[in-house]
Amino acid sequence: MPYSLQEFCEDTKRILKVDPGRGGVKSVMANIGRLIKDDDFIKEYFHDEIEHGVRRLYVDGELGFVVLGYRCEKAHSTPVHDHGNSWALYGQVRDYTEMTEYDRIDDGTDPTIAKLGVKTRYKLNPGRVGMYWGKQLHAAFTPVGCRYLRVTGTDLDRIARVRIDQATSRIMG
Ligand SMILES: [Fe+2]
Repeated sequence: MPYSLQEFCEDTKRILKVDPGRGGVKSVMANIGRLIKDDDFIKEYFHDEIEHGVRRLYVDGELGFVVLGYRCEKAHSTPVHDHGNSWALYGQVRDYTEMTEYDRIDDGTDPTIAKLGVKTRYKLNPGRVGMYWGKQLHAAFTPVGCRYLRVTGTDLDRIARVRIDQATSRIMG
């Protein structure tokens, strides 16, 4: 069965209105898995000539969730970060994203320093969806040309989040 961006956004709205918690987000996650396997969706939003960078595909004016499409011009490593009080779902379309999840191994008494231990590391290959909830620390490596869909519970540029410089363990805020 074909599945369009519009259907996905309508389904997401309906699901999150009933359950904005983990259960609802898991249902949205399953729908992303379906969307990123839809040939027409891929042809329209992730074709080989699509511009590099990030594109806002949909912003929900009522609930605030955001749907973004990415195509990486260069290989990129993010700092270790969280999603504050929100969540993000990453649906891999082309190539892969290498994800590393971290736990803090310090006691949190120094507000400027966070010591990290690797919890798990894995690749999101095409068709796979990863869920990153709230304060779960993680970092992503994306190779040249990597394409993925990202759906966030809110506009992450507008909320407080933590970023950590791994070289110095310094919390960047
Ligand atoms: Fe993230």
